[in-house]
Amino acid sequence: MTAETIAIASDHAGFALKQVLKDRLQKDGFQPLDLGTDGPQSVDYPDFADKLAAALKDGRARRGVLVCGTGIGISIAANRHRHLRAALCHDTSSARLARQHNDANVLALGARLIGEEAALDTLQAFLTTGFDGGERHERRVGKLGQ
Ligand code: RB5
Repeated sequence: MTAETIAIASDHAGFALKQVLKDRLQKDGFQPLDLGTDGPQSVDYPDFADKLAAALKDGRARRGVLVCGTGIGISIAANRHRHLRAALCHDTSSARLARQHNDANVLALGARLIGEEAALDTLQAFLTTGFDGGERHERRVGKLGQ
Protein backbone atom coordinates (compact mmCIF):
# COMPACT_ATOMS: atom_id res chain seq x y z
CA MET A 1 0.00 0.00 0.00
CA THR A 2 1.38 3.43 -0.89
CA ALA A 3 1.56 6.08 1.81
CA GLU A 4 -1.05 8.83 1.63
CA THR A 5 0.38 12.18 0.60
CA ILE A 6 -0.44 15.07 2.92
CA ALA A 7 0.27 18.54 1.54
CA ILE A 8 1.76 20.92 4.09
CA ALA A 9 2.65 24.61 3.84
CA SER A 10 3.29 27.57 6.10
CA ASP A 11 4.49 31.12 6.20
CA HIS A 12 7.61 32.16 8.16
CA ALA A 13 5.72 32.24 11.46
CA GLY A 14 4.63 28.65 10.96
CA PHE A 15 7.90 27.36 9.53
CA ALA A 16 9.30 25.76 12.71
CA LEU A 17 6.03 24.03 13.58
CA LYS A 18 5.66 22.85 9.99
CA GLN A 19 8.97 20.99 10.31
CA VAL A 20 7.76 19.28 13.51
CA LEU A 21 4.46 18.28 11.89
CA LYS A 22 6.25 17.06 8.80
CA ASP A 23 8.50 14.78 10.89
CA ARG A 24 5.45 13.36 12.66
CA LEU A 25 3.67 12.74 9.37
CA GLN A 26 6.69 10.82 8.16
CA LYS A 27 6.92 8.79 11.38
CA ASP A 28 3.22 7.97 11.13
CA GLY A 29 3.61 6.56 7.63
CA PHE A 30 2.37 9.49 5.58
CA GLN A 31 4.20 11.11 2.69
CA PRO A 32 4.41 14.86 3.39
CA LEU A 33 4.37 17.11 0.34
CA ASP A 34 6.17 20.22 1.59
CA LEU A 35 5.13 23.28 -0.37
CA GLY A 36 7.22 25.72 1.66
CA THR A 37 8.07 28.13 2.98
CA ASP A 38 11.64 26.95 3.36
CA GLY A 39 12.98 29.16 6.12
CA PRO A 40 12.25 31.92 8.63
CA GLN A 41 12.44 34.77 6.08
CA SER A 42 9.26 36.83 5.92
CA VAL A 43 6.78 35.69 3.26
CA ASP A 44 3.06 36.22 2.59
CA TYR A 45 0.70 33.54 3.91
CA PRO A 46 -1.83 33.75 1.02
CA ASP A 47 0.84 32.52 -1.39
CA PHE A 48 1.23 29.32 0.61
CA ALA A 49 -2.50 28.72 0.97
CA ASP A 50 -2.68 29.09 -2.82
CA LYS A 51 0.11 26.54 -3.33
CA LEU A 52 -1.72 24.05 -1.16
CA ALA A 53 -5.00 24.75 -2.98
CA ALA A 54 -3.29 23.96 -6.27
CA ALA A 55 -1.93 20.67 -4.90
CA LEU A 56 -5.39 19.54 -3.79
CA LYS A 57 -6.95 20.73 -7.04
CA ASP A 58 -4.60 18.77 -9.28
CA GLY A 59 -4.75 15.65 -7.11
CA ARG A 60 -1.21 15.65 -5.69
CA ALA A 61 -2.85 15.32 -2.26
CA ARG A 62 -6.36 14.86 -0.92
CA ARG A 63 -5.74 16.55 2.47
CA GLY A 64 -3.50 19.27 3.75
CA VAL A 65 -2.12 21.19 6.70
CA LEU A 66 -1.47 24.94 6.82
CA VAL A 67 0.37 26.90 9.50
CA CYS A 68 0.83 30.62 10.09
CA GLY A 69 1.26 32.67 13.27
CA THR A 70 -2.37 32.54 14.32
CA GLY A 71 -3.76 30.20 11.68
CA ILE A 72 -6.27 32.93 10.87
CA GLY A 73 -4.77 34.53 7.78
CA ILE A 74 -3.83 31.26 6.14
CA SER A 75 -7.26 29.71 6.81
CA ILE A 76 -9.03 32.78 5.40
CA ALA A 77 -6.86 32.55 2.30
CA ALA A 78 -7.48 28.79 1.98
CA ASN A 79 -11.24 29.16 2.23
CA ARG A 80 -11.30 31.49 -0.77
CA HIS A 81 -10.80 28.31 -2.79
CA ARG A 82 -14.12 26.51 -3.17
CA HIS A 83 -12.63 23.05 -3.08
CA LEU A 84 -10.99 23.66 0.31
CA ARG A 85 -12.70 23.37 3.65
CA ALA A 86 -10.00 24.65 5.98
CA ALA A 87 -10.65 24.45 9.70
CA LEU A 88 -8.63 26.51 12.15
CA CYS A 89 -8.29 24.20 15.14
CA HIS A 90 -6.71 24.65 18.54
CA ASP A 91 -7.33 21.26 20.12
CA THR A 92 -8.42 17.71 19.45
CA SER A 93 -12.11 18.48 19.93
CA SER A 94 -12.17 21.17 17.25
CA ALA A 95 -10.21 18.92 14.86
CA ARG A 96 -12.49 15.95 15.50
CA LEU A 97 -15.63 18.02 14.95
CA ALA A 98 -14.16 19.67 11.86
CA ARG A 99 -13.88 16.21 10.37
CA GLN A 100 -17.13 14.74 11.69
CA HIS A 101 -19.43 17.64 10.82
CA ASN A 102 -17.60 19.71 8.18
CA ASP A 103 -15.55 17.09 6.36
CA ALA A 104 -12.64 19.55 6.58
CA ASN A 105 -9.92 18.67 4.10
CA VAL A 106 -7.40 21.19 5.45
CA LEU A 107 -6.23 21.67 9.02
CA ALA A 108 -5.02 25.18 9.88
CA LEU A 109 -2.91 25.78 12.98
CA GLY A 110 -1.59 28.91 14.68
CA ALA A 111 2.03 28.33 15.61
CA ARG A 112 2.16 31.32 17.95
CA LEU A 113 -0.93 30.17 19.84
CA ILE A 114 -0.67 26.42 20.15
CA GLY A 115 2.00 24.35 21.87
CA GLU A 116 3.87 21.67 19.98
CA GLU A 117 2.25 18.75 21.80
CA ALA A 118 -1.24 20.15 21.34
CA ALA A 119 -0.51 20.74 17.65
CA LEU A 120 0.62 17.13 17.21
CA ASP A 121 -2.46 15.81 19.01
CA THR A 122 -4.67 18.08 16.89
CA LEU A 123 -3.01 16.80 13.73
CA GLN A 124 -3.61 13.22 14.80
CA ALA A 125 -7.28 13.86 15.53
CA PHE A 126 -7.67 15.53 12.14
CA LEU A 127 -6.03 12.63 10.30
CA THR A 128 -7.78 9.80 12.09
CA THR A 129 -11.37 11.04 12.31
CA GLY A 130 -13.86 10.37 9.54
CA PHE A 131 -16.76 12.43 8.25
CA ASP A 132 -20.00 11.47 9.99
CA GLY A 133 -21.91 11.87 6.74
CA GLY A 134 -25.66 11.58 6.92
CA GLU A 135 -28.26 13.71 5.18
CA ARG A 136 -27.89 16.90 7.24
CA HIS A 137 -24.10 17.11 7.25
CA GLU A 138 -23.89 16.19 3.57
CA ARG A 139 -26.48 18.81 2.65
CA ARG A 140 -24.62 21.53 4.58
CA VAL A 141 -21.18 20.60 3.31
CA GLY A 142 -22.64 20.44 -0.21
CA LYS A 143 -23.77 24.04 0.11
CA LEU A 144 -20.22 25.13 0.92
CA GLY A 145 -19.02 24.09 -2.51
CA GLN A 146 -21.74 25.86 -4.49
C1 RB5 B 1 2.94 37.00 10.28
O1 RB5 B 1 3.57 37.93 11.08
C2 RB5 B 1 1.50 36.79 10.76
O2 RB5 B 1 0.74 37.92 10.53
C3 RB5 B 1 0.89 35.58 10.07
O3 RB5 B 1 1.67 34.47 10.30
C4 RB5 B 1 -0.49 35.18 10.49
O4 RB5 B 1 -0.59 35.10 11.88
C5 RB5 B 1 -1.60 35.92 9.89
O5 RB5 B 1 -2.79 35.63 10.11
